Amino acid sequence: MTKRIQIFDTTLRDGEQVPGCQLNTIEKIEIARQLEKLGVDIIEAGFPVSSPGDFNSVVEISKTVQSPVICALTRAVNKDIEVAADSLKHAKRKRIHTGIGTSDFHIKHKLNSTPEDIFKRAVDAVKYARKFVDDVEFYAEDAGRTDNEFLARVIEAVIKAGATVVNIPDTTGYCMPLEYGEKIAWLVNNVPNIDKAVISTHCHNDLGMATANTLTGIVNGARQVEVTMNGIGERAGNTALEEVVMAIRSHHSLDFETGIDTKQILKTSNLVSTLMRMPVQANKAIVGRNAFSHSSGIHQDGVLKHRQNYEIIDPAEVGVKESAIVLTARSGRAALKHRLQLLGYDLHAAELDELYHRFLELADKKKDIGDEDLEILAGHGKKKAKPPIELVSLQVMCGKSTIPTATVQVSFRGDVFTETASGNGPIDASFTAVKNLLKRRVRLEEFLIQAITRGSDDIGKVHVQVEHKGDIYYGFSANTDIVTASVEAFLDALGKIA
Ligand code: KIV
Ligand code: ZN
Repeated sequence: MTKRIQIFDTTLRDGEQVPGCQLNTIEKIEIARQLEKLGVDIIEAGFPVSSPGDFNSVVEISKTVQSPVICALTRAVNKDIEVAADSLKHAKRKRIHTGIGTSDFHIKHKLNSTPEDIFKRAVDAVKYARKFVDDVEFYAEDAGRTDNEFLARVIEAVIKAGATVVNIPDTTGYCMPLEYGEKIAWLVNNVPNIDKAVISTHCHNDLGMATANTLTGIVNGARQVEVTMNGIGERAGNTALEEVVMAIRSHHSLDFETGIDTKQILKTSNLVSTLMRMPVQANKAIVGRNAFSHSSGIHQDGVLKHRQNYEIIDPAEVGVKESAIVLTARSGRAALKHRLQLLGYDLHAAELDELYHRFLELADKKKDIGDEDLEILAGHGKKKAKPPIELVSLQVMCGKSTIPTATVQVSFRGDVFTETASGNGPIDASFTAVKNLLKRRVRLEEFLIQAITRGSDDIGKVHVQVEHKGDIYYGFSANTDIVTASVEAFLDALGKIA
């Protein structure tokens, strides 16, 4: 039978421990609401004794959120447990998450204690928490580096004391997947009352193993996973919710399921990233900007033939509208044709060839080619008539402490003319050279340069209006080099006078 995995989200507790990512109560409520829509089973809302702000956030989230269990973290300290219980008083379903370090490192160097004392404090904390709530989760901090015999003794005792969930954190992200899986299996086989509690994974990502460890944890018997959205958390972060959920969903043979509405994943990821001011890395699995982008020609062609050639997840399943075919210098004709078709251009093979050639020229100058760039390229391609005046070459000299000077070479009615002029800037110098060269008495009425999208590698669109003998003539051009675009636009207008 398919096994249901409980999703315990700790974005608002462990995730919020990231330096510089602290949230106020209103922001936490907004995220908690979205986590509820996403379908998480448990929201760890904070560590109430740590600050009045954290206490207040747990109170307000408890009032707002209806379906998930609201959980509050404590140390194995009575005062912490009392404050956590108080913060949860409005929660429909509540859990106290208490615990203590169990590894030799933590016992000696953090808690300055002995295993027997830790054993007693763990049991006492669970018993005390059970006085306030029926649902108590115990964490054995640094379980990843805890001796399995001792860990099993503690886990057996806390379950006897009333723990409903036992959390086995790999606090330092030290374990390898096999090792973590074996630890869970060892507890399943060596803790006599283990069937009275749910085993939970809580993995950190210091060696990049958090998702793998979590998965081997559930394969070996854990039924709850502690995760954060986008994998945020202390140091290298926690296990990413989206990775575990989609791994479970993509591998039916594992026979697990979660209650997550995967279509809410991207929305939740964006909200967490925005409110925490923590950008998601572009190549982050599932939610990164490039997770469903294809840029090499071979991959683009493959995806266009059949999406599953290069995608194991349908982007729509996680709330991404569509796979992105990113047009770059490595893209092939198939991708260009597809994108142009989406934009409404149906080109013959020869037209496509000609446009592809100009596309590659542009792609060499500009990293990504967007729809607006393509519109310009395609629009340009439609100008069948050869313009009467064409720019052959342009050389400008400008900069600080330099007199801007331009040398312009144009072809006009089959002849090539060259002229050099100076001006108050490179465009002024170039226009003066053109005017001298063509001996046209024109007045520049309007001159407009616009970046099409963003970035210093953008294309500049130039519109000019010139007046000649009382009539107005318009010119247009676009180029990554705005001086060239300006001269081309100027010549475009002058050509119309001719
Ligand atoms: O990583 C950890 O051990 C924790 C515990 C407090 C659950 O976050
Ligand atoms: Zn943690």
